[in-house]
Amino acid sequence: MEERPAPSLRAEHITSGYGGVPVIRDVSLAVGPGEIVAVIGPNGAGKSTLLKSLVGILRVTGGRIMLGEADVTNHAPEDLARRGVGYVPQVNDIFEPLTVLENLEMGGYLLSTAQIRVRVGEVGNVFPQLPPLLKRRADKLSGGERKMLAIARVLMLDPKVLILDEPTANLSPKLADSLLSDHVKRLAGVGKAVLLVEQRARAALKIADWTSVLVSGQTRLEGRPAELLERQDFEELFLGAGTSTPASPEEDDDKI
Ligand SMILES: Nc1ncnc2c1ncn2[C@@H]1O[C@H](COP(=O)(O)OP(=O)(O)O)[C@@H](O)[C@H]1O
Ligand SMILES: [Mg+2]
Repeated sequence: MEERPAPSLRAEHITSGYGGVPVIRDVSLAVGPGEIVAVIGPNGAGKSTLLKSLVGILRVTGGRIMLGEADVTNHAPEDLARRGVGYVPQVNDIFEPLTVLENLEMGGYLLSTAQIRVRVGEVGNVFPQLPPLLKRRADKLSGGERKMLAIARVLMLDPKVLILDEPTANLSPKLADSLLSDHVKRLAGVGKAVLLVEQRARAALKIADWTSVLVSGQTRLEGRPAELLERQDFEELFLGAGTSTPASPEEDDDKI
């Protein structure tokens, strides 16, 4: 069995929630350079809460968060961004009244004008769909283009760690598959540590190097996707936990 790389980002036994009420408890995970770690689990399990805690939006009340050798527990989101953590939230991921180019420029807020110009070109190579759309207002984009812009905006700062909250939500199965197996896979291929929350468990398992199953705020199972799929209780736990979200018939093969 291949060994996992030394982690870029590591959560150790973290607890966090809203208004003093814990939503996730004692959750640990790690992601290293070139790795894709997928967190899957039913709606309301605490997946977004976990990501918000990792990027400093939510205060953790227990455990610690390490970025390489640095303890960054409860550091501000701006500090984490400066240290190379990029986060694409589940919603409100772009500025709709602004153009594609303006969104990218905002994403590069820590860079000089000259650096921004270079990075716009580079993220345009990652998402070749975007350069022809630079002057278009973001609210005129299709769902797929919008998600690409949201990721590209975060890539402007060339993060070491890329954290994606359900990037394929609302995309057709075909687009979802291409976003994951093409773009996300390639970003890991150039050495980024990718932490991915996904509803499409089967699609996520296909590209992930490591998977955590979060149920009711706690890690129920984790391991290599192939090992998880071999476990008898995996599908059962999943279905029993209510992962099957309402889906159109053509999406059925995306679900576990
Ligand atoms: N802003 C919030 N204030 C209070 N409770 C919240 C907030 N956001 C989420 N929750 C609660 O936290 C739990 C986990 O939500 P979330 O992390 O969004 O789950 P998931 O992303 O796995 O669907 C849910 O019970 C949800 O109602
Ligand atoms: Mg969520």
